[in-house]
Amino acid sequence: PLVDAFDLVIFGGTGDLALRKLLPALFHRFLDGQIPAGSRVVGIAREGLDDDGYRANIRKALLEAGGAKDKVDAFLTQVAYRSLDARKDEGWDAFAALIGEQPDHVRVFYLSTSPELFVDICNRLGEYDLNRGKSRVVLEKPIGRDLASANQINDAVGRIFDESQTYRIDHYLGKETVQNLLALRFGNALFEPLWNAGHIDHVQITVAETLGVGTRGAYYDRAGALRDMVQNHILQLLCMVAMEPPSSLSPDAVRDEKLKVLRSLRPIDESNAAQYTVRGQYRAGAAEGQSVPGYLEELGPGSKSHTETFVALKTEIENWRWAGVPFYLRTGKRLPERVSEIVVVFKSVPHSIFDASAGPLTQNRLVLRLQPDEGVKLWLTIKHPGPGGLRLRHVPLDMSFAEAFGVSQPDAYERLLLDVVRGNPTLFMRRDEVEAAWRWAGPILDAWGASGEAPRPYTAGTWGPSAAVALIERDGRTWNEDSE
Ligand code: BG6
Repeated sequence: PLVDAFDLVIFGGTGDLALRKLLPALFHRFLDGQIPAGSRVVGIAREGLDDDGYRANIRKALLEAGGAKDKVDAFLTQVAYRSLDARKDEGWDAFAALIGEQPDHVRVFYLSTSPELFVDICNRLGEYDLNRGKSRVVLEKPIGRDLASANQINDAVGRIFDESQTYRIDHYLGKETVQNLLALRFGNALFEPLWNAGHIDHVQITVAETLGVGTRGAYYDRAGALRDMVQNHILQLLCMVAMEPPSSLSPDAVRDEKLKVLRSLRPIDESNAAQYTVRGQYRAGAAEGQSVPGYLEELGPGSKSHTETFVALKTEIENWRWAGVPFYLRTGKRLPERVSEIVVVFKSVPHSIFDASAGPLTQNRLVLRLQPDEGVKLWLTIKHPGPGGLRLRHVPLDMSFAEAFGVSQPDAYERLLLDVVRGNPTLFMRRDEVEAAWRWAGPILDAWGASGEAPRPYTAGTWGPSAAVALIERDGRTWNEDSE
């Protein structure tokens, strides 16, 4: 193992994220021999379960996901459960005693609860001195719902845990392709000289999902796509694309550069939100061949929510490298396919030497595919082989991770959970980044609120409202479609 035995406590241990992502990620690390013997994973929630009841839930989830029975059972011997309520006294003495049995362990307190509970939980941990020693706290997004509430949470958590102990997770930073952006941009001499307004026409970031909000309506309806995806995941992707080369991979060198990008985003507010943003909400339609209800039906009868399940927007980074280069961002639920990608579109050649019969020239595109089929494609223009004159074709240099390395990609949480244990915060958000992201996102939400308009409807299984297409097409550009 790369680390010493540790304790990882998951508040919200019976929740969707814990069962679907965190525990499977830990199980995979266990299979790889990275969870040393003696380590303890403790699930915490209000439900009155015992260790065996909790293990049975996890066992079911891991077996359904294809885990081998003997391995799952071996993993579960390291898992325990405690029933606790952050707002009540019962159970905390015993929990503190349990953690206190291993004073030398690195302790990770993962807060996978609603952000309203972060402060209460941290206060309890402080009361029992569990913030001391090698303790770390992980805050799951969203951190607040605007700048003021994010500050409140960060202040309160900061009274108990130092910034150096605080890991604000954005699981997109744990995705292989996102980290690969660092390798690609700064490990090749080829791209960086072209990585600027002189050579890049525009950048697109799409994070499309086929799922609806399903059972997460209570959370989602208070959030919406801008808070759920853009303020965090998509802005982090944008930062990785746009930041200046950090002087090293040290946590603060990288985060300083990302912060500068966030602070350079062109503001969107009441004066220009109608021009630069499109909000949508899905109506009944089809997803993966099945008919599916609309967002309002999912919320329940009589619902009148104005929460957006889709957002497209156009922004710019106001600095020397990027001045005048639009960044088009879009994300939504119930879109036709699950695809996340970053597309860097280069400028056209300055002059064409080809006859019209050769066919049109298109711009080079670098497509970084986060999911599914993680990989990198660089679209080039070449000559169609054979006689018959010079005909131009557009083909990709295509690198699929699965084909090149023959392994499936680890889930983002696997990397990030172990980074916390190792004490490496490079891929986590510093407080000032979260604040800068809210400072940009807040006025957009305010502008939407002030307009009083409902989001535009789109049929489930389509690419959002037609205004999202118009947003990019009126600039003479189109959303990337990899069908050539
Ligand atoms: C989460 C959002 O942070 O990211 C979800 O809250 C979203 O709404 C999810 O579905 C997407 O993550 P991934 O890794 O499946 O792309």
